Amino acid sequence: MVEGTSRIVGPVILLGPPGAGKGTQSKRVEQHYHIPQVSTGDILRQNVKADTVLGHVAKEIMARGQLVPDELVNPMVAERVREPDCDHGFILDGFPRTAAQAGWLDAFLEHEFFDNLQPHHGLLIVIQLAVDYNELLLRLTGRRSCPTCGRIYNVHLQPPKVDELCDLDGSRLIIRPDDREDVIRERLNAYAQLTQPVADYYRSTGRLKSVNGDLPVDQVTPQIFCLIDNTL
Ligand code: AP5
Repeated sequence: MVEGTSRIVGPVILLGPPGAGKGTQSKRVEQHYHIPQVSTGDILRQNVKADTVLGHVAKEIMARGQLVPDELVNPMVAERVREPDCDHGFILDGFPRTAAQAGWLDAFLEHEFFDNLQPHHGLLIVIQLAVDYNELLLRLTGRRSCPTCGRIYNVHLQPPKVDELCDLDGSRLIIRPDDREDVIRERLNAYAQLTQPVADYYRSTGRLKSVNGDLPVDQVTPQIFCLIDNTL
């Protein structure tokens, strides 16, 4: 395992259904490899909070558990990964999520990102977290997050030391508005219909690696690090 590597990594795509652990594991990849987590869900939620034009459109769609249109999400991703902190790699959490997003990303990386990383850029790594359906429901209904530092907890599986308070900064933990059971089912349906084909696409091009996401968090992380290390 490479500790605090300064080598260029990725880009890394973390694929998986809602609740698979993409956010949890992305934060660990970010810390270990010093590459930023680019979470489309987080960026959209920031836009909703700031009441931007994008946030205004996205709010209702996200509340229903549906996907925000590609023509809004793709430029948002382009803007984020053009920032200088992404020059040495980044981890995509929650993107691409449709076949059209995957096709757009391939073209974008080819024309913009890989050109800028000559001559020692990393290869694209696509890692899928495979998790049982009932486990996903347990994870999503129990999820809590810290509004200050973003740390994710689970009241059933990884509770904070003090009920409902963040271990790191003491902030009161919050429940995401789309973690209601009816919305969770809609999000899982959207994944099966629209995002599973993305995994099939990467599999057919030989780029998909899968890890067992059913295991405890600390056992999933080394599987991911191992796949990334093998590409360095
Ligand atoms: P987004 O924010 O991306 O949500 P999601 O994909 O539904 O994924 P989650 O954040 O719910 O789960 P996760 O896999 O990150 O799991 P986590 O680590 O939090 O998207 C939200 C919405 O934004 C979408 O519905 C859509 O509307 C819109 N959107 C976003 N991207 C879009 C795009 N590209 N195109 C169009 N629309 C887009 O973990 C979950 C819980 O499980 C936590 O409590 C955690 O502590 C626990 N846990 C994690 N790993 C483990 C483990 N190994 N063992 C036990 N518990 C675990």
